[in-house]
Amino acid sequence: ATIRVAVFVGSLRKDSFNRKLAKAVEKLAPGDFEFTHVRIDDLPLYNQDFDEDYPAEAKRLKQDVESADAVLFVTPEYNRAIPGVLKNAIDIGSRPWGTNSFAGKPAGVLGISIGAIGTALAQQHLRNTLAYLDMPTLGQPEVFMQMKDGLLDDDGNVGNDDTRKFLQDFVDRYVAWVRKQIG
Ligand code: FNR
Repeated sequence: ATIRVAVFVGSLRKDSFNRKLAKAVEKLAPGDFEFTHVRIDDLPLYNQDFDEDYPAEAKRLKQDVESADAVLFVTPEYNRAIPGVLKNAIDIGSRPWGTNSFAGKPAGVLGISIGAIGTALAQQHLRNTLAYLDMPTLGQPEVFMQMKDGLLDDDGNVGNDDTRKFLQDFVDRYVAWVRKQIG
């Protein structure tokens, strides 16, 4: 059966390096893994009053997560944390209280930035949230990437053999681990 992965890219910008990284990962995955990017750019800012009558876009996001077998977060680091747009999407998916759509979904985390520490702090910050949301999260390999000219293109091509091998190793471990988690 097909294994469906809901992909959250933590950047909204058109030329996002993280979206290119997500495409690269998808290209290295086996054919029975199907990746869908979850739309987060049209979500309202989470407000606890929503819990009485959840907005349509928020319900759609919850449905996107609930219909997936696994989740992949590919995120930049903004000011040493995850971007607000991603946190907002996660908050929306986690509510109304008692209906956390993320619960139990196996997750993978990776990211790329222009800075040398390659989103390490944002990823650690995200891992705290995922633990609280009861998402088993792949620990290794960690993927902290620094963008360089020609490293990633829009079609998921990786312009450096060592980086491609490194990403293939991540994908192989993630795929094997997701299969095990969902049994
Ligand atoms: C950044 N950037 C950044 N980079 C980093 O490594 N650590 C950081 O804390 C920050 N902080 C930060 C804050 C804000 C508001 C912006 C706009 C940017 C730079 C960041 O790595 C760069 O903009 C990436 O290109 C963002 O990822 P996408 O959009 O290319 O996927």
